[in-house]
Amino acid sequence: MTAELPYLAPPRTSADGPGDRERGPDRYSEGMFSHAIDGERQRLTLLESLLDRHTRRRLTALGAGPGTEVLEVGGGGGSVARWLAGRGARVTVTDLDTRFLDGLKDLGVRVLRHDLSADDFPPESFDLVHTRYVVIHQASPDRAVARLVRWLRPGGVLVVEEPASFSVMESPHPAYRKVMRDFRAHLERSLGSDTGWARTLPEPLRRAGLAGVGLDARIQMIHGGGAEALWWRMNLERSRAGMVAHGAVCHEDFEAAYEELASPGFHDLALTVMTAWGRRPG
Ligand SMILES: C[S@@+](CC[C@H](N)C(=O)[O-])C[C@H]1O[C@@H](n2cnc3c(N)ncnc32)[C@H](O)[C@@H]1O
Repeated sequence: MTAELPYLAPPRTSADGPGDRERGPDRYSEGMFSHAIDGERQRLTLLESLLDRHTRRRLTALGAGPGTEVLEVGGGGGSVARWLAGRGARVTVTDLDTRFLDGLKDLGVRVLRHDLSADDFPPESFDLVHTRYVVIHQASPDRAVARLVRWLRPGGVLVVEEPASFSVMESPHPAYRKVMRDFRAHLERSLGSDTGWARTLPEPLRRAGLAGVGLDARIQMIHGGGAEALWWRMNLERSRAGMVAHGAVCHEDFEAAYEELASPGFHDLALTVMTAWGRRPG
C-alpha cells in the first residue's frame, strides 16, 4: 500500500493566473471522448495495446521500479498504472473520470479524480511523473507541463508522450488524408486540443527548468484492417456527425476512408509519438 500523501483538493488553482481554464473544466470528459460513451473502454484498451510496449521500455530506462513514487496523469484505461504497480512502484493515478481506474485500488494504487489543469498536489511529491496523450488536450499545454514539473522532487523525472499529426497530413491516400486533416481541425474546434504542440517537444520541458532533456520520436504505422486502423475508425466514427455538419467532409469521404483503412493493401504512417523526458535539478 502507498503511504498517505496529502492531496490538495480544489479550490481550483489561481497559481497559473487567469485564463488557465478558459474552456471550462469538463470539455474533455463531456465531449467525444467521454468515458460514458459506448466503446470508450475498448478505444482506450486499443490505444494501450498500440503504445504500452514503447512506454514501458522508456519508463524502465528512466528508473521506474520498486519504491519509486510515481504519478500517472490522465491514466485512462489504467494499463500503465497497473504495470507500474506490478513493478513495485508506489503509484498515484489521476483522471477526470476514474471509472476505468477504480479497480486498481485493489492493487494498492491511489486513484484520484483530479484535473491536471485545475487541481493540485503538494510541490515535490513524486520521483517520476508520466503522462500520455493528455497534455495536448489542456487549454495551455505549457502551463500543464509547468504544473507537472512542480510536483516532481529534486532529481525526479518527467516523461511526456504526446501525438503529433504532421506525419499523417501528406498521406498519398486521398480519402484517409482528407478525413484525417479535417479530424485534426475537428479536435481543435471541439476540444480545443493543440495538435501542433507535440512537435515543439522537448523545448517545453527545458523551458520548465528540466535538465538532461531527451526526445524520442516514433511514427506509428497503419496497416489496412490492423489495430491502428481500427482505432482510427473508432475516432473518426465518433466525430463523423460533427465533422459532416461543419461541412469540409461528407459521408462519402468517410466511406471512402473506411474502405482504404480496411483494405489489406493499405500501408501508411499514422501519428508521430513524441516522447520527451527531463530531470528536475537538485
Ligand atoms: C487519450 S486518453 C489517454 C489515456 C492514457 N493516458 C493512455 O495513454 O492510455 C486521455 C485521458 O486523459 C484524461 N484527461 C484529459 N484531460 C485531463 C485533465 N485535465 N486531467 C486529468 N485527466 C485528463 C482523459 O479523461 C483520458 O482518460
